[in-house]
Amino acid sequence: MKKINLKDLEKSYGVESFSSDFANSLEKANLSYEELSADEARQVASDITQKIDAEQFTKVGQHRENIWRDAWEDVWLAFEKSGYDIAELDPKFMSAAPIIRLNQRFVKALNPRFELAFFALFRNWLFETYLKEIDHVFEFGCGSVFNLAALAQLYPQKKLTGLDWAPASQKIAKALAGHHQMNLVGRRFDFFNPDVSLEIPDNSAVMTFCALEQIGGNFGQILDFILSKKPKIVLHMEPTIEYYDPENTTDALAIRYHKWREYLDGYYTRLRALEVEGKIKILKSKRLYFGSLYHESYSCHVWEPVG
Ligand SMILES: C[S@@+](CC[C@H](N)C(=O)[O-])C[C@H]1O[C@@H](n2cnc3c(N)ncnc32)[C@H](O)[C@@H]1O
Repeated sequence: MKKINLKDLEKSYGVESFSSDFANSLEKANLSYEELSADEARQVASDITQKIDAEQFTKVGQHRENIWRDAWEDVWLAFEKSGYDIAELDPKFMSAAPIIRLNQRFVKALNPRFELAFFALFRNWLFETYLKEIDHVFEFGCGSVFNLAALAQLYPQKKLTGLDWAPASQKIAKALAGHHQMNLVGRRFDFFNPDVSLEIPDNSAVMTFCALEQIGGNFGQILDFILSKKPKIVLHMEPTIEYYDPENTTDALAIRYHKWREYLDGYYTRLRALEVEGKIKILKSKRLYFGSLYHESYSCHVWEPVG
């Protein structure tokens, strides 16, 4: 058995050291796993190839609005039925399979909540590193609102706004405010038709987690919208096709999967071009070398508008 340690995460996050609080959180997260044999790894790769060849995966995009509406409605009903238990908001698509991606190979997670725990650890580190001094945080494509609920638990004073095209998301935000006294509101928002009347005050942050992934190459409108609102800082955790190495067989499968599903395409390239044009400054951009069975949703980009 192996376990992710601080040295592993220093490399993954691209930082030199962590606080003792972070070390304690890592210990609690119990990120234990074991290596696969060469045969097992080949079998995993072959199963994925077969699924892609058999066209078993859906493509993302505008036509999926009803699918997200229904998926989050189910989560809302379960949340309501549980008496508003925040654990009900954890997305079911995380930690769905024991096989995960680590450092460009497949490994077997021994903790059934490995993926969610790894994600949450990094997400909370991002919050503490970049959002401490921010007054108002806007999450676009917030889904079950579980990221904002975690942020509210860390920083109860911050104003939080959760945006999504699925109506259940707004019901969950309202219930979190009412039943958990969170400083949180929900509002409908469509990436394909951004609501320009949304005000983003001074000293605000914009963030997206596995949300822009859903719009393929059609990110022009939402990116222009964010730029026009001039938030203080922007955080993304999104699959980033530019980071994969086509020569690595595990990465090559992620590229095939990403392209088949029509996930986010060219966003990081566009951010770098905007930096060259002097319109934004990229503060951090890092592949974590960690992902689920099919791909890596968790590369991070942190940037700020210039001027
Ligand atoms: C994979 S989920 C991620 C949700 C949440 N950020 C998380 O970390 O669990 C993608 C989210 O993007 C939302 N979404 C997809 N396309 C959208 C669009 N065009 N406008 C607004 N939200 C959209 C979906 O409703 C869903 O909540």
